[in-house]
Amino acid sequence: MPEHNAVEMRGVTKRYPRVLACDRVDLDVRRGEIHAIIGENGAGKSTLMKILYGMVRPDEGSIRLNGNLLVGHGPSDSIKLGLGMVHQHFMLIDPFTVAENVVLGIEPVRAGLFVDGRAARERVERLSSEYGLALDPDERIENLSVGLEQRAEIVKVLYRGADILILDEPTGVLTPQEVSELFLILRSLRKSGRTIIFITHKLNEVIELADRVTVMRDGRVTGTVSAAETTPEELARMMVGRDVLLRVERGETTPGEAVLEVSELSAIGRKGTHVLDHVSLRIRSGEIVGIAGVQGNGQTELVDVIAGLRPASSGQVVLSGSDITNRRPRVIRDMGVAHVPEDRQARGLVPEFTVAENLVLGHHHRAEYSRRGLTNVAKIEEHARELIAEHDLRPADPSVSASHLSGGNQQKLIVAREFDGDPALLIASQPTRGVDIGAIEFVHTSILKMRDAGAAVLLVSAELSEIMTLSDRIAVMYGGRIVAEFEGGTVTEEDLGRYMTGAASDSGGQDAAGGAA
Ligand SMILES: Nc1ncnc2c1ncn2[C@@H]1O[C@H](COP(=O)(O)OP(=O)(O)OP(=O)(O)O)[C@@H](O)[C@H]1O
Ligand SMILES: [Mg+2]
Repeated sequence: MPEHNAVEMRGVTKRYPRVLACDRVDLDVRRGEIHAIIGENGAGKSTLMKILYGMVRPDEGSIRLNGNLLVGHGPSDSIKLGLGMVHQHFMLIDPFTVAENVVLGIEPVRAGLFVDGRAARERVERLSSEYGLALDPDERIENLSVGLEQRAEIVKVLYRGADILILDEPTGVLTPQEVSELFLILRSLRKSGRTIIFITHKLNEVIELADRVTVMRDGRVTGTVSAAETTPEELARMMVGRDVLLRVERGETTPGEAVLEVSELSAIGRKGTHVLDHVSLRIRSGEIVGIAGVQGNGQTELVDVIAGLRPASSGQVVLSGSDITNRRPRVIRDMGVAHVPEDRQARGLVPEFTVAENLVLGHHHRAEYSRRGLTNVAKIEEHARELIAEHDLRPADPSVSASHLSGGNQQKLIVAREFDGDPALLIASQPTRGVDIGAIEFVHTSILKMRDAGAAVLLVSAELSEIMTLSDRIAVMYGGRIVAEFEGGTVTEEDLGRYMTGAASDSGGQDAAGGAA
């Protein structure tokens, strides 16, 4: 009997009112391989995977799973046929434990009536240890890091018997450590004969992990190549259709006056502990200061306090000489602070609003957009058209609802809005999360341009390479404190890593315990 491919998609087409999201796509995924899917923001990757999983109905085309033709299938049919999708967000129920979440909907029952908690726990434990997931079945979801939450999603899919797993940008929100752990897990799943399809924007991940890679562009497949026989440069060219600078050059800068002066800033967290512990930081005009740190070490809180989104318990934030500590976000914004927030869904945009409306969000009260309480629609649209062109937002249509944009284009929209105008201080939190390599080049170049035009830039990123490329100065946060500061270009990723994990410390006391090299 001939060996079937795990997945065979033929001529799959999906039209949305303004876009051809997938255009006669053919895709073959072999049994037992790790298959990467890459492509620019809006290329159709997520749509294609949603079609495969049965969440989106294609207009044309056929899909075979292990040789079986699927007709009008939905996610529950996919699950029965052994295809699972690992969702990144919002699919697990917070107050429930890992085991409860994993078995939700298909709980093992005892005596036909009661949920058998022990059996569920045991099965979660078995799956977890089989694939090195290191998950505690009794831990509540709300207490898990993003990385562990993702593993709970993986166990959930495995528990339902999946032998083909789809992961849409699984590494986007993970720390470098969590990424390596995820890769170990995915490799051990491949060893057990499972097939993995994953979407990513990180070309080095493709080379490191994938067996084969399919490149999409404008809804079409431009090719499938073997990962061992390609390079990041070639993949970039296939994606974008031109050579891409995989790393921009940071020129010299001559910083001016201090724009942001943070002194002895503290904030208290939910559990009454210091999430921000006497942090002092100064950023001058024409200077980029990068904050390196493992997620959860106070970076988010620092940014939130500066932007007025969370109260400081003590200490001071001064912007160009004015005290802005605990002022309202809108006041701070009007004083010249732009902010690309790390959580684009919750804070960056209003999904039901159009692209044009989102592009003036936070500025809509300004004179040019409204007069005597009336909104100047023409002006807002004109402004939107300019930014759409400048930032290559796709589709290039101001009237589309933001919820219909691809993930990366939502991020580009926020960046476009916040980079507009001449902020005195730009706070950029994870500015390139989920955006494609061409757009990363653009965002990096724009940040440098803003610096050269005199802005002070506070950059927070989980991407160490991003921090290293852009920062004139690097501060490392650990346990709510700044534990080290370096001039840009004077420190290696390994050294930063040691400070980030608390293994090394400049601010006293911890060296002995951490065993710094
Ligand atoms: N529900 C929808 N309604 C209208 N258009 C949509 C909808 N979902 C997706 N699109 C459009 O389809 C195209 C492909 O989107 P998709 O989310 O598949 O891109 P992607 O390759 O996953 O991009 P990214 O890298 O940014 O995640 C985009 O132009 C998007 O705006
Ligand atoms: Mg996507």
